[in-house]
Amino acid sequence: MSEIREIKNGRLYFDGCDTTELVKQYGSPIYVMSYTAIMDRVNELKRDFLDKYPGSRVAYASKAFCTVGMYEILKKNGICIDIVSGGELYVAKKAGFPAEMIEFNGNNKLPSEIDDAVSYGVGRFILDGINEAELIDEACKKYGKKAKIMVRITPGVAASTHDYIITGKKDSKFGIPLEEETFFGVMDKIMKYDTLEFEGLHMHIGSQLFEYDAYIKSLDALMDWVKKIYEKYGVATKEVNFGGGFGATYINEERKPYSFFLEPLMKRLKERADEIGIPVPLASIEPGRSMVCEAGLTLYTVGQMKEIKGIREYLAIDGGMYENMRVALYQAEYDGLIANKADEPKTRKVSVTGKCCESGDILINDLMVCDSVERGDILAIFSTGAYGYSMASNYNNNPVPGVVLVKEGQSEWLVKPETYEQIAQNQVHCTLI
Ligand SMILES: Cc1ncc(COP(=O)(O)O)c(C=O)c1O
Repeated sequence: MSEIREIKNGRLYFDGCDTTELVKQYGSPIYVMSYTAIMDRVNELKRDFLDKYPGSRVAYASKAFCTVGMYEILKKNGICIDIVSGGELYVAKKAGFPAEMIEFNGNNKLPSEIDDAVSYGVGRFILDGINEAELIDEACKKYGKKAKIMVRITPGVAASTHDYIITGKKDSKFGIPLEEETFFGVMDKIMKYDTLEFEGLHMHIGSQLFEYDAYIKSLDALMDWVKKIYEKYGVATKEVNFGGGFGATYINEERKPYSFFLEPLMKRLKERADEIGIPVPLASIEPGRSMVCEAGLTLYTVGQMKEIKGIREYLAIDGGMYENMRVALYQAEYDGLIANKADEPKTRKVSVTGKCCESGDILINDLMVCDSVERGDILAIFSTGAYGYSMASNYNNNPVPGVVLVKEGQSEWLVKPETYEQIAQNQVHCTLI
């Protein structure tokens, strides 16, 4: 990644913008996304995957950061998207995202969502349950369309990451278990409906992964079933989706380039296809976090400082778990810096706490900051580009902060901040009261 973060004249700069000035201009808290950092990942994916393996596809996992602007960047660069809800589809439509470049994932797609997606012409459905084939068939008949289908399998491999972000182990709410009756129950339906076109198999084994062995084990499990499909129906699987999960750097984890995972996977895919005697299926991936995590930071204003002698010092900021719930949800860890005093020595240990009414509303447990830190300073928390804005809530009726896009010293709203009026707009005076 190019040098996105810099310290100049004692201040933190992000993609050429002085973060202290950003707070003056846009207020706080704000999410900030670097266009250059997002493009670094897009270009890496083009160079090391899309251009290297013709026919391959990248479908960005929208759940990491779903906004019109993000979709516009992807559309311009030929990157597809993975959606999991009618809401993500709505934003994709708003961005004018081409329907054939959208794939629809999710473990419980609602009939109304399927209807909406089929009518828009969504390119692929990743089947995640026995009844979905019927729902998609019904919608296809209604609109006179056909749908490309991939089947998400549960490979039964527990990747090494936090329990809440493992998805490929046997006991999982995601995917079709690799067990003859269930799996072929689903496949028989796909083969039976002429509205459905079988494209291939899909796996997504977890998130924030730094080794490729679990991917390879899962691909092996998946390819065993590619073989069974070939033997049972004489159908050669056209596409295999490896999912997302590629790790990002929050504190000092070493992010691995995409090629670290993809080269051994592509090699294995070819070996296994050759063994089965089918053409090598096209490969697709669904990176989310790794494309946007380090491209984002969140800026806050320091408020109350509270020292409990001999125990800890709390530094409260004007955001909290409502705009970043990953710490409360699965003990995520972050690094931060006092942005307007960025080159002062870090000698004071604080716990960064939010303003929500929960003791668990801590964003960083132990952060070293400069001794002179005080109310009014600006705190930057790094690597908040993924699953921050997209998981935000209105807890305590806090409005979701806006997102500012920065690019080589320029800045502009990507998403405007929510207002109190917008939070309360659906609150009505009930006649039963
Ligand atoms: C089906 C699927 N694909 C892709 C992703 C993206 O994963 P990551 O953000 O770790 O790349 C997820 C995340 O939950 C997912 O469920």
